Amino acid sequence: MLYTNARIENALKTQDIRVENGLITAIEDKLSPLPAEAVEDLGGKLVLPPFVEPHVHLDTTLTAGDPVWNMSGTLFEGIECWAKRKEKLSAADVKDRVRRAVRLYAANGVQFIRTHVDVTDPSLVALKAILEVREELRGLADIQVVAFPQEGILSFPNGKGLMEEAVKLGADAVGAIPHFEFTREYAVESLNYACELAARYGLLMDVHCDETDDDQSRGLETLATRALELGLKDRVTASHTCAMHSYNNAYVLKLMRLLKMSEINFVANPLVNTHLEGRVDTYPKRRGVTRVKELTAAGINVAFGNDDLFDPWYPMGCGTMRDTVYLGLHVTQMMGREEILNSYRFVTTNAARVLHLGDSYGLKAGNPASFVVMDAGDYYEALTNNVPVILSVRKGKIVARTCPARREVMG
Ligand code: FE2
Repeated sequence: MLYTNARIENALKTQDIRVENGLITAIEDKLSPLPAEAVEDLGGKLVLPPFVEPHVHLDTTLTAGDPVWNMSGTLFEGIECWAKRKEKLSAADVKDRVRRAVRLYAANGVQFIRTHVDVTDPSLVALKAILEVREELRGLADIQVVAFPQEGILSFPNGKGLMEEAVKLGADAVGAIPHFEFTREYAVESLNYACELAARYGLLMDVHCDETDDDQSRGLETLATRALELGLKDRVTASHTCAMHSYNNAYVLKLMRLLKMSEINFVANPLVNTHLEGRVDTYPKRRGVTRVKELTAAGINVAFGNDDLFDPWYPMGCGTMRDTVYLGLHVTQMMGREEILNSYRFVTTNAARVLHLGDSYGLKAGNPASFVVMDAGDYYEALTNNVPVILSVRKGKIVARTCPARREVMG
């Protein structure tokens, strides 16, 4: 298969991509079709590596309004709504919703997903269901599972035991939630435990870290220190880090040195954090999104995620990575032309680094033929005009195709 006239990652000139046996075998300015080779002319459209969702909760996805709506929109009412929905949780229910969510993602060119799954449940029903259904969905997406202790590791009965059981069942990454633990001491101990567990099993880590407006929430410094000392480094991700938005600047100045040394990754979730943070503020109201601009300027890897899709904590979301980038650029004030043009990296290459996808991710000869085509010439235009992913190719196979709407304005 030969795809011609591809504008790869905003390049000024177009190139041709040859796909054979699921692999990219050549990318050159001009390739002539081989005898009997099918050709699709991409007409100068933008081609990107597949989108990567670095942070979502598939176990709660697609449950908004069932059985009750979150009327205030707060985190705490979300927890109350979820407690009612949790009674109906079964393997079949989880699998059905995960299948639907992954198909939404697939339609939007997402081929890699990191999901957090609540393991503060003695039956681990959601974890087991997701580990099973991910095999069935491999044609559409690779799903990485984080053992996520929603109610704490030290603050939940047998929290440590459940974390280790989740790891033994096949979780890819170890989570933690230090800001939710009962005490500061528990927070530190939970991070020590989670880092030691990840090191012992050779796993990745992704911590819900300081997802609060409390400027005294300092899980991040402990996580970064352990990542450095245990040599886990870029295998570790700090998600949310909303408190960093509220830290005083003198503390951040000191913290940045450690963050750079530790080489950990960050995931910000602008849609959900702007929605849920700042809720105890009157005015001025904090935005609650971590310091993406400063972290990026310091050479630290930052990705953007959706966090929630249509669930008790976030009543919107349709499986596109576009909205989180669009809002993220606004709230972090990263609206320079180059910043907008290159912002696809938050949900492609940067997110791929979070998931440790390695050298096999990206458009180059020898890699799996996985890429998306957008109905625009570059990402600036794609983002501004909210264009669809018109083609998603995964390991050489077309997994989604969208025909853009035709609009006519009369008069
Ligand atoms: Fe989350």
